[in-house]
Amino acid sequence: MAQAHTYNDKVVRQFAVMTIVWGIVGMLVGVFIAAQLAWPVLNFDTPWITFSRLRPLHTNAVVFAFGGCALFASSYYVVQRTCHVRLISDRLAAFTFWGWQAVIVLAAITLPLGITTTKEYAELEWPIDLLIAVVWVVYAVVFLGTIVKRRVKHIYVANWFFAAFILTVAMLHIVNSAALPVGLWKSYSAYAGVQDAMVQWWYGHNAVGFFLTAGFLGMMYYFVPKQANRPVYSYRLSIVHFWALIFTYIWAGPHHLHYTALPDWAQSLGMVMSLILLAPSWGGMINGIMTLSGAWEKLRTDPVLRFLIVSVSFYGMSTFEGPMMAIKTVNALSHYTDWTIGHVHSGALGWVALVTFGTMYYLIPRLFGRELYSLKLVELHFWIATIGIVLYITAMWVSGIMQGLMWRAVNTDGTLTYSFVESVQAMHPFYIVRFLGGLLFLCGALVMAYNLWKTVVGAKTVEAAIPAPAH
Ligand code: HEM
Ligand code: HEM
Repeated sequence: MAQAHTYNDKVVRQFAVMTIVWGIVGMLVGVFIAAQLAWPVLNFDTPWITFSRLRPLHTNAVVFAFGGCALFASSYYVVQRTCHVRLISDRLAAFTFWGWQAVIVLAAITLPLGITTTKEYAELEWPIDLLIAVVWVVYAVVFLGTIVKRRVKHIYVANWFFAAFILTVAMLHIVNSAALPVGLWKSYSAYAGVQDAMVQWWYGHNAVGFFLTAGFLGMMYYFVPKQANRPVYSYRLSIVHFWALIFTYIWAGPHHLHYTALPDWAQSLGMVMSLILLAPSWGGMINGIMTLSGAWEKLRTDPVLRFLIVSVSFYGMSTFEGPMMAIKTVNALSHYTDWTIGHVHSGALGWVALVTFGTMYYLIPRLFGRELYSLKLVELHFWIATIGIVLYITAMWVSGIMQGLMWRAVNTDGTLTYSFVESVQAMHPFYIVRFLGGLLFLCGALVMAYNLWKTVVGAKTVEAAIPAPAH
């Protein structure tokens, strides 16, 4: 175990702290834009704080800053522990930290200024895209290089998920960002028309599949067994889960382009692949939850474990809902409505954010050699966050299905039953409920920040735990 003391935990600590900082910033912007949708006067007629500019700021902050820092922190932590070796280069690891923070700061400046490619989740202009590509390739070198240098023969399954996430995101980003610059802050996509749409949603869907799913599954496969102190339910299932998931995800993008100019066969292929995706997704969920079999009582006493297990349950729920929404006739109702927003946040808040919170509660005390300040506050956070999610997603489901039904309702003479503005009026109460749900979720994150701050500055020092590999 002597080598364990030589792990590079500095970069893990830096990314872990920034996960919490960017999480709060991104969710604060989320709460603000939710308030703008309920009370449009909050746009203040000021261009840089209008909904249209702050919305991409929210998505970039929560997905790439909060989610991204969490993935960097956990992948660097896990790869060292499971390979029994230090990261191959401290300098390159530090470069990924500072490079990624620079990307985030540039995003936070350019998006409110209205500098954007307009491609969803790929809004940043070409100079920032180039920086992202460089940082990401260095990340791949550090992570994969560490695996190459490993002292144990076996590559633990979490690393397979992290590696797939890193390699696929590099490919997606480089292909989708191909563009012709016409100035320092303006470029045009290398693709046109329906090809541009197809490349964009191949990217967009797999950003969900690899950034928001595969990477976080890597987290699940390490931190759930660790926190539960049990081996993974079925190692064989985890391998089947891995190959089936990465093979299927990459084909499902066209479900974002139903009833568009995209050829019909491509839309149907996207739908079928999305339906097949239910199987590997649920295989993974079952593997995560069943890791607790024989130790269910731990859920009653350990709120950190509860965060992790409830997140996996939300993963199961959103990966059931997704394939249903990919069915063309269902999508005819759900597309363009708040139902999509409900689906997004059951995945984003329920799965991505909760598994990250559980991981941070595990990591921060160990990284700083302290005991967690208060389990009671973790419990409080758990309940505030869960109630917040339930309010958010149920409001969006009701509002979304109502919108879809109102838009398609026709009178016997063929005229529309409702004007668009009537549907907007009908959505208003649900937007207020969503705002309150989001506010609760943000308050939960603030409770976590306070708890972890008290943990770090606290006096209760413990010998930093040096866990054995999770297999
Ligand atoms: C306090 C918590 C949050 C609140 C109040 C919130 C609120 C919002 C709002 C109001 C929108 C715009 C909806 C619309 O255009 O109709 C949105 C979009 C979005 N949010 Fe959040 N959000 C929160 C947390 C998160 C987190 C943690 C993530 C990801 C990890 C996330 C990912 C997204 C994505 C991907 C979209 C775009 C959805 C789409 O285009 O279909 N949000 N959010
Ligand atoms: C089996 C897994 C899944 C499938 C088949 C799936 C399918 C879908 C479908 C059909 C849509 C609506 C497309 C549209 O009408 O425009 C959608 C939107 C979305 N889903 Fe999923 N989903 C899955 C899992 C997830 C998970 C786990 C997350 C988050 C962690 C997620 C995040 C999103 C986002 C962000 C969007 C909005 C994209 C946009 O229009 O901006 N999905 N998904």
